[in-house]
Amino acid sequence: MKVLFATSEATPLVKTGGLADVSAALPAALRRAGVDARVLMPGYGPVLGWVEGRARLAGVLELPPFPVARLLESALPGGTPLLVLDCPALYAREGGPYHQPGGAEWPDNDFRFGLLSRAAAELARPGRDWVPQVLHCNDWQTGLAPSWLSILPGPRAATLMTIHNLAYQGLFPATAMERLGLPWSLFQPDGVEFHGNLSFLKAGLFHADRLSTVSPTYAREIQQAPLGFGMQGLLSWRSRYLSGVLNGIDTAAWNPGTDPLIARRYGPGTLARKDDNRAALRERFGLSPGPGRPLFGVVSRFAHQKGLDLLAEVTSQLVALPAQLAVLGSGEAPLEAAFRELATRHPGEVGVVVGFDEGLSHLLEAGADVFVMPSRYEPSGLNQMYSQRYGTPVVARDTGGLADTVTDCAPATLAEGTATGFLFREPTPEALLEALTRAAAAFANRRMWRALQRNGMARDFSWDASAARYAALYADMTASPGGWQNAGPGA
Ligand code: ADP
Ligand code: GLC
Repeated sequence: MKVLFATSEATPLVKTGGLADVSAALPAALRRAGVDARVLMPGYGPVLGWVEGRARLAGVLELPPFPVARLLESALPGGTPLLVLDCPALYAREGGPYHQPGGAEWPDNDFRFGLLSRAAAELARPGRDWVPQVLHCNDWQTGLAPSWLSILPGPRAATLMTIHNLAYQGLFPATAMERLGLPWSLFQPDGVEFHGNLSFLKAGLFHADRLSTVSPTYAREIQQAPLGFGMQGLLSWRSRYLSGVLNGIDTAAWNPGTDPLIARRYGPGTLARKDDNRAALRERFGLSPGPGRPLFGVVSRFAHQKGLDLLAEVTSQLVALPAQLAVLGSGEAPLEAAFRELATRHPGEVGVVVGFDEGLSHLLEAGADVFVMPSRYEPSGLNQMYSQRYGTPVVARDTGGLADTVTDCAPATLAEGTATGFLFREPTPEALLEALTRAAAAFANRRMWRALQRNGMARDFSWDASAARYAALYADMTASPGGWQNAGPGA
């Protein structure tokens, strides 16, 4: 089975969130399972830097109205074959993959990811040595590929559109249709149009043969308002083509027994060594030493999705429990300001590092006693899985992938050895505080706490099970060739 995995970011070259982790780990796991998966991504500066001296020119893509692009063949640092879409004018810029150095989005993101989608579609057609049977698209940045394939003549790969986050829809004014060279015939509700705009994500959700998202619970949640973000009608109409496949984690990169980025390595039998990581973490965050109070930790994008405003509202009560808080994150300015203010108000008890720091995120997973994820919605979430593997029980909202991976601590789950954290239902400060308080009380009970830690560490979050599910999905998709539209809606 040959699969082209089209994505806009991949660890460790370019990462803004979990999509990058998935884009590196899933294709690698697929290859271990015998699937010939290859990654396609844009040639941003760090990508070109990595492939320099280890790439070969595999072709030139002339896809008007886009500028001519080169296709470079290389491999990701983990060894997965990589196709780089090299078009320096669009991708090799100072700044992030989606944002300029000042924080504003690149004004030509429609064109930049229009080309990524168009190139993915081109590579999903015959004409080269290696022709995939499946084009696996990820999020809005590659959402137009299935739409292009719906209008290009001749045979093509089957298409899977995976939703990592439905809130980011790639919305552009209708005028983008002409800029991108898309025919107006596609600009309709049964197509790429979404409330008068062009939506890259809607395009993929409408035209792809199959849809998937990154946890079973989120697959159900997005078929209704509010988590469908306006796409719930389309998603429930296409529900028989929609699957929820839970993400895994890279268990080699995230292993407290071998992690070079933490202060002291440990395992389920040597949990006392976690204390050294806690001490190192306190030092990095300017927190006072001293036993007794649990250290709560956060690593997150500062976005409305993540519900950190709820945490900011109850931080003073959390400190009074007593407890400490270490927050690593960056994003929305008001949240950065709120946590900085809390650190000033509670010196030695609340510490904040604003920024993106991969190494520090490992130390935080190892050094925190409790990890906090109060997400309003969470398609999968990775940190709650990293946390469990690091013996760090989780306080999380009962939604999406969090609901599928964290087991609430209750007498029954403690007795059967499955409890790994503390779930709360309502997205309110009160409900969060109640769960934080439960966690702090459990922390005081040494034996119970060790049981929670070991339950989490014993969980298998490796990619192998998920990769097998994707492989089965690919097999199913290719067994019945042709687009779903060929068979008619609802067929
Ligand atoms: P999302 O993709 O919605 O941000 P995930 O939980 O799937 O959420 O993945 C987030 C990934 O990004 C994790 O690997 C997490 O450790 C990482 N991350 C987020 N913010 C930071 C940060 N400030 N510093 C380091 N890593 C971060
Ligand atoms: C998105 C989601 C996150 C998920 C990640 C990878 O960024 O917000 O929940 O883990 O994609 O699928």
